[in-house]
Amino acid sequence: MNFNSQNVSSKRKSKNFNNPERFIEGWYWAIPSHHLRVGEVKAITLLGRELVIFRGKDKKAITFDAYCPHLGAHLAEGKVEGNELRCFFHHWKFDREGFCVEIPCLDEPLPIKLNAWHTAEKYGMIWVWTGEIPLQPLPFIPELEHKECDVAMVCHFVAKCHPNVVIINAIDTQHFNTVHKLPLGIVFEKEELNQNAITFSNTTRGNENSWLIKLIRPFYKNAITYSICYWYGSTNIVTMGPDFLHFYIMFTLRLLDGGKAEGRTILMMQKRKGIFGKLYNRFMLWLVNILGRDFFNDDSKIFETIKFDLKTPLKIDQPIMQFVNHLERQTALCWGTWQPARSLRDAEMRDNRDKWRDDFND
Ligand code: FES
Ligand SMILES: [Fe+2]
Repeated sequence: MNFNSQNVSSKRKSKNFNNPERFIEGWYWAIPSHHLRVGEVKAITLLGRELVIFRGKDKKAITFDAYCPHLGAHLAEGKVEGNELRCFFHHWKFDREGFCVEIPCLDEPLPIKLNAWHTAEKYGMIWVWTGEIPLQPLPFIPELEHKECDVAMVCHFVAKCHPNVVIINAIDTQHFNTVHKLPLGIVFEKEELNQNAITFSNTTRGNENSWLIKLIRPFYKNAITYSICYWYGSTNIVTMGPDFLHFYIMFTLRLLDGGKAEGRTILMMQKRKGIFGKLYNRFMLWLVNILGRDFFNDDSKIFETIKFDLKTPLKIDQPIMQFVNHLERQTALCWGTWQPARSLRDAEMRDNRDKWRDDFND
């Protein structure tokens, strides 16, 4: 792809990006932690798959497929017993790994196992890994890795476009000037952290003629801090703020039926010690929420009507193209079944084969 010209074109069709039938294997938010108390079981639908999630007496959240392997009762009607779940209908019981451990009318349980999905909690949220074994960690940004955070969950939203389209907004540098009227000429440097994570960091010092930049310039030694870390093409964490006070905004999204997106916004700051540290962080998270709300509302009407199609990419759109390329190399699963998605080439070969067979049979 040639980005040396001002106008670059992309003819390659993306298989993962903005595909309403696919998502990247990874960690996805299920429900906020405080929505699931000890002893509770709840029904959730995640990326088209029906699941139950429950919290045992050891306080750990556990996620199973929703329907009982006996004759299909929904396990959210069941009861949590210790760290196990008992089906409401005929009282079969399943341990935390999904193994059937009791069938009341039999002396011995049958060797049956429910699908149990790896489940973790962080940032006030319960997360589920959509593959067999987690291959990557929960979303994080390098400067906060292994550090504890204070968080505030501030927004729950649905957008009428794909999660990929919503989150590339953070690296769409043109719209900062047009929609948000910011006096910034952002130039990103990208870095791939691993197969599923990529960061884009601003390298510029801002427009020195702007009063806003003049005002904030003393608080930045080098470039104005603005970086975005993407995970699984569906969660991003934006880092902003002066050198002495970074704050973080996580947008974590999942694909809904029909190519829509459901998301949560979580504000984060590194934990501070003591009661004053806690109060300080509470106040700052509140302030960031107030200041950020209007800023992000400006974008929301775009997501109501857009039919994303990058027909005429410019050089300035390079970060979006880099994001798309990064996404194309990740492992994709099918919405609903969570089965590995076949490549477009496989699908084309199958279509050609079927067509050939049809022609032959005519
Ligand atoms: S349907 Fe669950 S035990 Fe019978
Ligand atoms: Fe925006």
